[in-house]
Amino acid sequence: MNAKELLEWYILSGVEETAGNEPFAQIENTSHIMPVLKTTIKKTEPNALRQATTALSQATQNACQNAREQCKNINDLSQLKSLVENFDGCALKLTATHTVFGDGDENARIIFIGEAPGADEDRIGKPFVGRSGQLLDKMLSAAGLERASCYITNILPWRPPGNRTPTDGEIAVCLPFLKRQIDLIKPDYIFIMGASAANALLDIQDSISRLRGHWLEYKDENGRSIPVLASFHPAYLLRNPAQKAKSWVDFLRLKQKMSEEENKQ
Ligand code: URA
Repeated sequence: MNAKELLEWYILSGVEETAGNEPFAQIENTSHIMPVLKTTIKKTEPNALRQATTALSQATQNACQNAREQCKNINDLSQLKSLVENFDGCALKLTATHTVFGDGDENARIIFIGEAPGADEDRIGKPFVGRSGQLLDKMLSAAGLERASCYITNILPWRPPGNRTPTDGEIAVCLPFLKRQIDLIKPDYIFIMGASAANALLDIQDSISRLRGHWLEYKDENGRSIPVLASFHPAYLLRNPAQKAKSWVDFLRLKQKMSEEENKQ
């Protein structure tokens, strides 16, 4: 098998990134693998595919139901953290190094929510500690907010391989964990970073350019209404620095509302 065939084989097998410096480390006797794989793929009957898809969707629904049910018995964040660490209903856990649970003040007035851990977060086990996290830290501090007094979390507690976009099923299975974190912390405000997190939590389908800059609303599981501001994800801002100004306006909007509420009290 030459390098190109080997690479194709990796891709077909679902490998999306390399963990070491030698992706083409010698594999002996691989010549039998490609023909077998190609034949298997060609031979898969539409019926078998349909059955597999139905089984997958049923498994996802069961996992969602399990996550929701198990969350009902949880009364504090450390219990919830153990529950998530021991939860086996999401395949992302199999490829992740760490479960990245939320981090910060349990009594925070504000929760920041991103999409999913990246490579640095997966390695260290904390949310927003890589380049996106460093930008978030700078924006928080410029807005006069201390990271330690906020709570920072993600829609997903496990890194999707190669930072791919999470599937709807993965989001649906993990959403009860995020919602329970919100119920337990009872924040005054939620700041969501990126379209995928905003759409998931608010159960909508819109672009972040349209969502950002307006106060939105999230109703927690007890029917309590929490003001939500959505803005660009820091990773997007790193790729598109010209948009930082708009994000800064969103941070100032949040800060202003927090100050107004404080002055009322
Ligand atoms: N991007 C996210 O959405 N979350 C993290 O924790 C890190 C990067």
